[in-house]
Amino acid sequence: MNDAKTRALEAYISAFNDKPDHIIRAPGRVNIIGEHTDYNDGFVLPCAIDKDTVVAIGRHEDSLIEAISCDYENQDIFSINKDINESPKLWANYVRGVAKYLQLDGYALPPSRISIAGDVPLGSGLSSSAALEMAVGRALIEQSGQKIDPTDLAMIGQKAENQFVGCSCGIMDQLISAKAQAGHAMLIDCRSLLCSPISIPKDAAILIVNSGITHSNSDGAYNERRLQCEKAALHYKVKALRDIDEAQLKAGKTGLDDVSYKRARHVVTENARTVNAAVALQDNDLYTLGQLMRQSHASMRDDFEITIPEIDQLADIMNAAIAQYCDNQGGARMTGGGFGGCVIAIAPNDTMESIIDSIHDKYRKTANQKIEILISTASAGVNYV
Ligand code: GLA
Repeated sequence: MNDAKTRALEAYISAFNDKPDHIIRAPGRVNIIGEHTDYNDGFVLPCAIDKDTVVAIGRHEDSLIEAISCDYENQDIFSINKDINESPKLWANYVRGVAKYLQLDGYALPPSRISIAGDVPLGSGLSSSAALEMAVGRALIEQSGQKIDPTDLAMIGQKAENQFVGCSCGIMDQLISAKAQAGHAMLIDCRSLLCSPISIPKDAAILIVNSGITHSNSDGAYNERRLQCEKAALHYKVKALRDIDEAQLKAGKTGLDDVSYKRARHVVTENARTVNAAVALQDNDLYTLGQLMRQSHASMRDDFEITIPEIDQLADIMNAAIAQYCDNQGGARMTGGGFGGCVIAIAPNDTMESIIDSIHDKYRKTANQKIEILISTASAGVNYV
């Protein structure tokens, strides 16, 4: 049995002396390419990983939601009859935020007991928070006997994160956790929210290297990048940077400060790379995909300035191994919001071991960092475990 499922179930039984009615899982994600494009109405190409947050849910006799978290050894209780306010506990705010916005969107909240356990590494750019939002949201919906469209569920999760937790994230993480298909990445148009599944070649694997350097999206840097992008869009007189191409970017440069121009150049070129990467993946063309991933990393490093030296070093080592052992059939890049977190590689299955050996040989980490290496398949979106 899934380990997080076992932990959530056992915690439920021991805390509440009862069995849950439903057990729901929602996955974390990696983004193959398309970074910081989602809140610019652009394109992203994420895929769900085989690490989940699991929520066990059952009824409550009072008008309460009583939640326990195995990973934070903590409890949170709030009333569903009163305005739902913030808790001092961060993890609890994801639960409360989703409950609040479900209610505001007209879904009646069931009085519930909830236990939560997960194996998505926390704070590492793999969207443990979106997985929590989607698992809690779907669990509450199942408990109440209602139905919800996965896109609506994703939007409720995003609202919880934007307006309750205070991080201005885009829609990518929630949407992939809600709608992923096993064996597929998803090209998402973040303006129309159209999702196109793209199958991942069977002989390719996804390698995830967690630098162990934690990031926090609520940190100023993420929100600052958003504001810089909005400023650039205003300068170009468009709704979002999605609406200009590279030629328009260059032609209209005059009057825009250098930093905002670089930010805009990342977004505009990244959108084009993402659409091209989806075509390459669809055609099993790992060589082109790899080139685009390397260009994306360079753009995040030089124009968007969201990488850090350790992450650049990991990406370089992995790309060098991909060049050496499989003739550049694949590539590596940082994934997620930046300033730490994970580097991913997509490359043929049979070169994974050589890439991992290279990392162990060459990566110089500082004493208190522990890297974690996972090989993942592309999993399905939120559902029963
Ligand atoms: C975080 C956010 C996403 C997206 C990425 C960067 O993961 O939650 O919405 O903006 O950063 O691509």
